[in-house]
Amino acid sequence: MKHWSLIVCAVLAGATLASNEGMAQTYKKQTILAASANTPDSNHGTVFDEFKKIVEAESKGAITVKVYLGGTMGDEVANVKQLRNEELHVASLFTGNLTPSAPIANVLCLPYLFTNMEEAHAVLSDEGFRKTLADRVAKESGARPLGWMIGGWRSITNSKKPIHKLEDLQGLKIRVSPTAMQLAAFRAFGIEPHPMAWSEVLNALQQGVIDGQENMYLTNQEQKFWEVQKYMTEIHYILWTGAILVSDSWYQKLDPDTRALVEKAVLAAQKREWSSAEQVEANAKKLTIEHGMEVTIIDPKEEERWKERARGIWKDFITTPEMKALSDQALAIIAAMQKK
Ligand code: MLT
Repeated sequence: MKHWSLIVCAVLAGATLASNEGMAQTYKKQTILAASANTPDSNHGTVFDEFKKIVEAESKGAITVKVYLGGTMGDEVANVKQLRNEELHVASLFTGNLTPSAPIANVLCLPYLFTNMEEAHAVLSDEGFRKTLADRVAKESGARPLGWMIGGWRSITNSKKPIHKLEDLQGLKIRVSPTAMQLAAFRAFGIEPHPMAWSEVLNALQQGVIDGQENMYLTNQEQKFWEVQKYMTEIHYILWTGAILVSDSWYQKLDPDTRALVEKAVLAAQKREWSSAEQVEANAKKLTIEHGMEVTIIDPKEEERWKERARGIWKDFITTPEMKALSDQALAIIAAMQKK
């Protein structure tokens, strides 16, 4: 009797498995609207290339991903509002440009938080951290980060002079993204920076409205800033991170299969971006030098002065229990990494 009931159970289990395996997901015919204010050659371009490939292949063409690159859907701050209104479904942007709508995202922009890319990988791989941050960002902005991008250091470029020390910033008109954190950091460095939407930067550099800006080497390469900038100064105040966001109200309405596919495609895009970032950044640095830009690496002792000033602004941003909890969590993950 026992013997027979075991056989029956095994047959039933096998049948269930076979029917699940044979069950093809069905996807409603639809178009996903995706945007980035950056070019196809940027890390945002890589993300959307992977995202589109996976969604369209796995849905067997039922879902079309229409990608708007190069700022045709507006600048990064505007893209967040478009996600909230479901005018866009997916967008990728520098985390700083998310902070006007979601101040909690400042946790990733605290100056001198990270000392290398691996620490950012560890923090943004931690499920607990990701979930708390994603839920909070969604609540504040209506846009939900399903994935993250990690790039190089935001270094300063300008057309006027090399920067070796804090005092060399004097007299330079430096653009920063329109974020409270970056404005405060540059004020702590001793100058009044110029906040400006990302999509206006190249033109403003060409017209001489600003002398410089700060971004990673890859951005310097894909925007060909070397045509209008002569000097690059490596500092390590903010590691470029970016959010791959979905419209939260749209995402919550998706059927389970489509939602799972969107999540899977974002994570695959994140994986591709993370695995190439270091190499891509090194190559962009090589090209920056080959195109005639003079690179200065700030002396570590001098950078301690930058760090001390920039760290002084943390207290102005860690002002809510949520921000305190999340920044403590990030610091604990980083401390654990540094002990290894
Ligand atoms: C900015 O400076 O506004 C951003 O870093 C642009 C980007 O998304 O790469």
